[in-house]
Amino acid sequence: MQLLKDRILSEGVAVNEDILRVDGFINHQVDPELMTKIGETIAEHFKDRQVTKVVTIESSGISPALFTAKELGVPMIILKKQPSKVLNDELYHTMITSYTKGTNYELTLSSRFVNENDHVLIVDDFLANGETATGAIRLLRMAHATVAGVGILIEKSFQPGRDKLERAGIEVFSLVRIGALGRDNIEFI
Ligand code: G4P
Repeated sequence: MQLLKDRILSEGVAVNEDILRVDGFINHQVDPELMTKIGETIAEHFKDRQVTKVVTIESSGISPALFTAKELGVPMIILKKQPSKVLNDELYHTMITSYTKGTNYELTLSSRFVNENDHVLIVDDFLANGETATGAIRLLRMAHATVAGVGILIEKSFQPGRDKLERAGIEVFSLVRIGALGRDNIEFI
């Protein structure tokens, strides 16, 4: 998506060889015009897949997921992060390890919102190691839902997320794929 590439080139900052800062337009200050276009583009790609729900992970995935869900005319569901296991019969939960943030957390989904009739599109801002997306898929499978695919704004293709998902038979649609990051250097694929 050229619009997102241009924005990354003009406002994104490669903090080091692993991390791209996009807090001016995606995950701290959010540009609604850009998010509208992002939602339209992801929805257009998945429009014929009979998606019944869009699922994202709090917090940065919420904006693009909401705009995508609006375009598809379906609800958006936020997977919640819990600091520790919350004992609640209604919740499916799974442990996620974030290599980027160096944290473990419990991700949860209420059984009230997804069931065996759902075909779910997962939307998130970054794809790095694929731990978040594979955790989201585990939760959806616990709810007996099927997965239509994963829509990503920025894929860091030098990290193993895409491979991990594709090996599990999941389609990954990324608006932008980054092959390498370095000081003053952002290489797109
Ligand atoms: P994964 O999502 O592919 O499994 O990778 P990993 O666990 O390593 O990192 C996930 C978290 O790190 C996500 O935040 C993601 O947005 C963030 N992240 C990964 N790479 C980058 C990057 O290059 N730049 C920025 N700005 N963030 C990155 P999260 O845990 O979902 O939290 P939140 O920020 O959405 O609240």
